[in-house]
Amino acid sequence: QHGQILALSLLFTSIYYSKDQHGYFMFTDFFCYIPSRNPKEVQYLIDWYFNMELTMQYNSSVGGWTGFTPAGLITAAKFNADKHDVVQRILERELVVKILCSKTVISVEPNVSLQTVEDNVLTLECSTLDFYPKHIRLTWFSNGQEVTEGVTFSDVLPNGDWTYQAHTYLTLTPGKQDHISCMVQHASLKEPKIYNYESSKNQTENYIIGGVCALLLGAVFLCGGLIHYKLRRRSFAIKC
Ligand SMILES: *[C@@H]1O[C@H](CO)[C@@H](O)[C@H](O)[C@H]1NC(C)=O
Ligand SMILES: *[C@@H]1O[C@H](CO)[C@@H](O)[C@H](O)[C@H]1NC(C)=O
Repeated sequence: QHGQILALSLLFTSIYYSKDQHGYFMFTDFFCYIPSRNPKEVQYLIDWYFNMELTMQYNSSVGGWTGFTPAGLITAAKFNADKHDVVQRILERELVVKILCSKTVISVEPNVSLQTVEDNVLTLECSTLDFYPKHIRLTWFSNGQEVTEGVTFSDVLPNGDWTYQAHTYLTLTPGKQDHISCMVQHASLKEPKIYNYESSKNQTENYIIGGVCALLLGAVFLCGGLIHYKLRRRSFAIKC
């Protein structure tokens, strides 16, 4: 559900460990902490162990290292005073969050399109592609009013990777000039997004008007021919 706390801690690597001459192990854990679906809230963390003991931790929300043992306090202070380390951590966070953490847990905005179904001009399709997570809500509006009649929904379909797609269909009433829109609600969107149907009806109307004009023009020519013909025959019964 939107805004729900995920509290997911994602462990992706335990990159570095070594053994010193006294048989002490140093071990670091790099991970993301994702308290919500807001990418800005993702925390980048490094747990630093020495001889199985958590001695210090880097937390990107804090913006530095925190020591937990006497040795950890000293090292943390040293690292925090080191400009290179500070910059390095910020760059790491950018990369780690973007490449490794975001795809796994953070929401991805759907790619939305609104069009008529190919062989059925009276059915509109609102397609939402490549979104994450799965839960999505699609609503049709006609002149600002929610429409439920003539509406169908597809299942939310997995794409085979980690994303999903969903479709909804609205059957239009012939001849109605309604202002139709499709509203998308998804965890990736701060607020519902509304997509208006740019009616190709206008285009159709233009074609029709064009057609009618051509027809009239043809009729005028035809009539002209008829009139001409009849005039030549001295007949005044001109009907068109
Ligand atoms: C990182 O620091 C923030 C801000 O102090 C804190 O709210 C959060 O719980 C810390 N994260 C972890 C995993 O300890
Ligand atoms: C959105 O989907 C359409 C249709 O599949 C595709 O052509 C377009 O490239 C997609 N846009 C993005 C930003 O993925």
